[in-house]
Amino acid sequence: MASINSSKCVLVVLVVGATSGIGQHLALAILALPSQPTVIIAGRRRARLDEIVAQNAGTSGGRLRALEMDIDVDAPALERTVASLLEAYPALDAVIFSAGIQRELDFAHPAAAGTAASAKTIASFASELNTNYVAIVTMVHLLLPHLLARADGGKGQPGLIVPITSGLALVSAAWIPGYCASKAAMHSFSVSLGVQLRGTGVRVVEILPPIVESELHDHEGTTESLSARWMPLAEFTPLALAALTDEPRPDGEGVEAPIGNVQDWYGKWENGKMGFVNMMAKGRPAKV
Ligand SMILES: NC(=O)c1ccc[n+]([C@@H]2O[C@H](COP(=O)([O-])OP(=O)(O)OC[C@H]3O[C@@H](n4cnc5c(N)ncnc54)[C@H](OP(=O)(O)O)[C@@H]3O)[C@@H](O)[C@H]2O)c1
Repeated sequence: MASINSSKCVLVVLVVGATSGIGQHLALAILALPSQPTVIIAGRRRARLDEIVAQNAGTSGGRLRALEMDIDVDAPALERTVASLLEAYPALDAVIFSAGIQRELDFAHPAAAGTAASAKTIASFASELNTNYVAIVTMVHLLLPHLLARADGGKGQPGLIVPITSGLALVSAAWIPGYCASKAAMHSFSVSLGVQLRGTGVRVVEILPPIVESELHDHEGTTESLSARWMPLAEFTPLALAALTDEPRPDGEGVEAPIGNVQDWYGKWENGKMGFVNMMAKGRPAKV
């Protein structure tokens, strides 16, 4: 089975949302692995991508590549993106989804229906859901024929899919309801995906971060207060990497990697759930 540095290690990794924060640091940590994978960093900000590649040119040996990519687009556009990605990187075997946005939504003081302000709020919610959930599921669907063919039921090159959700997938922060709902959706999808892909050679590892140093909160002006309690990237990144480098347990469990205080939340609200998920999967009604 795949892990970032197993005996059949990952060769080419795409990190979607790698122009800053968690994605950038995880991408660079993977680049530094002894297995020397090729790492493609993706995001919308071309200048940032170029800057990161240039900063690491001395040590990357040409293995750090940049791909300008906006995932908040419709399915046909994502299909074109994935097709050209696979054409350029036919050995792609791992994808980390770190792209995410977070928006405050105030349902107690909604703008009047039909106004520009109301339309803006609704568009913002749709964009948040698309970026954090729908586009990622779409990309997974588009990438799976490639990953499954390469993995060949476990006999070929293993594949790895890494959704980065959040502790807020488990506990709602009421001022950012769309964000929490999108992360809860992605969490639930990741569990189902992990179960469906058992035995295929493609592994799903969901990372559930706590509050982490990043640019996610910048637009809300909360960075200063949050910085007093967030986990520094230097502390978070090795923990996230360890979740990708650990060999999976033979029973197929361990597809979820809560980090920091999210381990406590996970223990309180998620422990034992996988047993029911497995039971439900076994009891699935037969097709007629
Ligand atoms: N930081 C936290 O406290 C925390 C906690 C739990 C979970 N998370 C999750 O961790 C992931 C990484 O977030 P972060 O904290 O590292 O925040 P960040 O520094 O703001 O990074 C977000 C990344 O997503 C990319 N992105 C946003 N919209 C995109 C789009 N439409 N297409 C392509 N890329 C897009 C951004 O790149 P461009 O702007 O260049 O496109 C950026 O590289 C997110 O999924 C976030 O929800 C973060």
